[in-house]
This record gives sequence, C-alpha cells and structure tokens, in this order.
Amino acid sequence: MTDDLHSLLLFYRDAGADAVLEEKPVNRFEKPAAKPPAPVNAAATAPAPDSPATAKAPEIYAAVPDEAQVARAREAASQAASMEELKVLLEMFDGCNLKFTAKSLVFGDGNPKADLMVIGEAPGREEDLQGLPFVGRSGQLLDRMLKAIGRDRTSTYITNVIPWRPPGNRTPTPHETEICRPFIERHIELVAPKVILALGGPATKATTGATQGIMRLRGNWGVHVTPSGTRIPVMATLHPAYLLRNPAHKRLAWRDFLAVKMKLAELAG
Ligand code: URA
Repeated sequence: MTDDLHSLLLFYRDAGADAVLEEKPVNRFEKPAAKPPAPVNAAATAPAPDSPATAKAPEIYAAVPDEAQVARAREAASQAASMEELKVLLEMFDGCNLKFTAKSLVFGDGNPKADLMVIGEAPGREEDLQGLPFVGRSGQLLDRMLKAIGRDRTSTYITNVIPWRPPGNRTPTPHETEICRPFIERHIELVAPKVILALGGPATKATTGATQGIMRLRGNWGVHVTPSGTRIPVMATLHPAYLLRNPAHKRLAWRDFLAVKMKLAELAG
C-alpha cells in the first residue's frame, strides 16, 4: 500500500503536479450522474422551462480543445467592450483545458492606461497562487529592470499570452496558445499601449507572428497589428526566468529595455 502511494506520488510529480490546489480532490473525468426517472405525474409537477430547477448543471469533466474552441474564444473576446468585461468573459470561458488545472485566472496587473505593455508567456506557481502576473522571482527581476528605466507598475501594464498556469510550468501547446490568442489580442486593443515589450520567444511569436528564435529576435523592433489595423512596435527581449539562469545575458536585456525607454520618449515627444 505504502509503495503504491509512493509510486502514485512520483507519477504525479513527474506529470508536473507539484502543488495542491484544493483541500478535497476533484474527479474532473467523472460523468454527470444519470438523471433519476421522471415521476409519473411529471407534467403536473414539472418546473417552468426557464426556472432554476431546469438550468443545465455545469459540466465537470475536462473539455477537449478543438477548432471550435478557437472560434468560441474569438467570439467571446470580440464582445469585450472594456477590461472588466474581458476579465468576466475570460472567467466564463471554459474552452481551454489549462483553466481546469489552474487555481486562478491571472488577468493582468499595473496601469491599464499605461503607454508600455509588458507581455510574458504564462503564469508560474506563485502567480497562480496570488492571481497576479510576475510576482515570483522572475517578477522581482522584471520589477528591478523596469525601475532601471524609470518605470514601475503604476506606469506599466503587465500580462501574459496565457492567463492560466500550465501544470508543472510546462510550455503551453500551440493549440492552447491559439485558443488564448483572441483574448490577448483584445487585451492589447483595450490597453492600446504605444509600445509592447515581449518577454521571451513565445510572447514575441504570439504578438508579432515571428518564427525565429529569441536570440535572433531580441533587440529588434517587430510590430503587432491589432484586429482593427493599429500597428504597435514590439521590442523582443529575453525572459527574466532565462536571465535568472543566465545572468551574463542581463546586459543584452538591459540594452533592450533602454531601446524601449528611448522609443517611448521619441513617441511622447
Ligand atoms: N513567467 C511568465 O511568463 N509570466 C509570469 O507571470 C510569471 C513567470
């Protein structure tokens, strides 16, 4: 028995389940219980069709992503007329499996009217626990780098391409990124920054459509074209998590941050 439990825990660890989200386990693959047979005099006692008693119970088993979910995401994101609405629509959206393993929706942080928008890849463990982007070690480094160009979260807006933590911090799949893309595109349109700073390869690719590696892309200006045709300059830089592992490359990121500072001054003046 102890051996079985030990093997199961090792399996969970290897599968990337490294945090307990709820006190009680939830079987997300359980099918809803079969409905009890209708009473003989059902017609007489049946509730009105729109009464709460007839409301559809939420499905608790995991959704399987498919092309239809991308279309649903596009439809939902296009309905958001404000940041508040976008957040509510994301909270209601159940077409991305990552939502079912994450604890929180990590929507964004900082000043939504800022001229600088920083976009990362996806929340990590600390971000999932706090429901805010870049609050772990990477976030502390990001805050220090922003400070070095005279910025903080009152003058910068920060979010991620993917708003839910992938289990075990694995890289989001291309399909998960496609499902979340309409939401980040609407997010950018609503913030309407003058400049985007993309942290790492996935954020750069998702915002500009570039296909090269981050070492080639960083330090260069790309462009994000919003669904309504506005062109926003995007500076690609190295992700703070990478910089924590490769501190010698901080000088490259420092150049990219300075380029952002200069571009913002140029556009303001
Ligand atoms: N890494 C990211 O890309 N985003 C976060 O919010 C935290 C770490």
